[in-house]
Amino acid sequence: MKRSKIKSLFQDAPIQTRVVVKGWVRTKRESKTFSFLELNDGSTIRNLQIVADAGMPGYDEVIRKISTGACIAATGMLVASQGKGQSVELQAESLEVYGTADPETYPLQKKGHSLEFLREIAHLRVRTNTFGAVYRLRNAMAYGIHQFFQEKGFYYVHTPIITGSDTEGAGEMFSVTTLNLKNIPLQENGAIDFASDFFEKHTHLTVSGQLNGETAALALSDIYTFGPTFRAENSNTGRHLAEFWMIEPEMAFYDLNDNADLAEEFLKYLISYAFQTCQEDLEFLNKMYDNELISRLQFVLNNPFKRLTYTEAIDILTTCGKKFEFPVGWGTDLQSEHERYLVEQHFKCPVILTDYPRDIKAFYMRANEDGKTVRAMDVLFPGIGEIIGGSQREERLEALEKRIAEMQLPAEEYSWYLDTRRYGSAPHSGFGLGFERLLLFVTGMANIRDVIPFPRTPGNASF
Ligand code: 4AD
Ligand code: MG
Repeated sequence: MKRSKIKSLFQDAPIQTRVVVKGWVRTKRESKTFSFLELNDGSTIRNLQIVADAGMPGYDEVIRKISTGACIAATGMLVASQGKGQSVELQAESLEVYGTADPETYPLQKKGHSLEFLREIAHLRVRTNTFGAVYRLRNAMAYGIHQFFQEKGFYYVHTPIITGSDTEGAGEMFSVTTLNLKNIPLQENGAIDFASDFFEKHTHLTVSGQLNGETAALALSDIYTFGPTFRAENSNTGRHLAEFWMIEPEMAFYDLNDNADLAEEFLKYLISYAFQTCQEDLEFLNKMYDNELISRLQFVLNNPFKRLTYTEAIDILTTCGKKFEFPVGWGTDLQSEHERYLVEQHFKCPVILTDYPRDIKAFYMRANEDGKTVRAMDVLFPGIGEIIGGSQREERLEALEKRIAEMQLPAEEYSWYLDTRRYGSAPHSGFGLGFERLLLFVTGMANIRDVIPFPRTPGNASF
């Protein structure tokens, strides 16, 4: 008989049919005449209750082997449940054990565990309600992202993971090499001789697919990337990962306003997609971790984002009377505390800040007439701070060349990129959404290590 997923049994409730379910036992309660098993197969946060009568053939032997964490198959009749809290349950006719889980050593016993402890067993934490919910939401958001762009006629473009150019120009890159680290070839001047390296040049893991994405937008009009990105920044915070996933749309003929409109529509679409697909998981997370999760999601869905310039934001921050840990003034980069003050206390809604000082932003952003600011935009969210960073791009060849020189970037690494401006250049814009920052917002989890299956952070690449 074909195995049924538990989610479909709750949905369709085919009472009085024989079914087979397979999954992992969450709890076992034994009495003299029968046992109750709670079974979860990951298809839903809900467990199916299995009632095994002591009269079942081979009962003693099989029940002895089953404990929390064991993997089993159960065959039996689906019946309306007597107990409250569930609509259907399974009356077992036979049980088969695929894998036992020694109760002496299996770390996930019935009591709740701290998120810190669960991070140490990241390979098993997906078997908890919390991480089942997070993984399902992560899956739904990935699918929703593709759906949003595909419905709009954007093309999904794959950009390289190994690259020679630093998109953000911040130098926070992991090197990729096959050189013998015990015997590194050097040039006469003492610099590393990458000519004998695998790619015959110095390469890195990408920090962003944007520059490659731009080449595609300047032919296909509307594109997006969705892939892993890597940053060797030593930020040990609850919002930074060394390996994270980023979604980067890039659109020909969009100005900064169009860009901001798309970002707002995109985020709202994803939140509403989470409600459509993961209602039970959201309710669980709302109950267990963050009682304001659902109301916060609804609020963001139903209210326009506040848009203002960086300069206007600095005025607010310097006159509000609040003492910040990091001083703030025109020209400084905003810290998370400043971003969150604007969003959580001043405006009390998501904010899109535009037109940042050019000296704190990347080389590719379009210069404004004032000579001081660029067409940058950051989308700031409650509880998170920056969730999206983007800009209108500098489409004028000369201005871009000048900026690369001013910032002392290696011009030869960008020559292919400059060809896009040399030939058929066009106004265009784009942004990057940090996938895990989105998931922090949608799940209400407080630490970014808890929304990616196997986090990579400074000092940690376990699993
Ligand atoms: O603001 P960032 O650095 O922008 C770019 O990389 C542009 N190339 C995007 C573009 O215009 N196509 O990064 C974009 C987003 C941030 O807003 C944040 O959500 C996320 O990526 N992000 C991180 N997420 C987790 N850990 C980190 N270390 C992150 N750094 C950036
Ligand atoms: Mg940024």
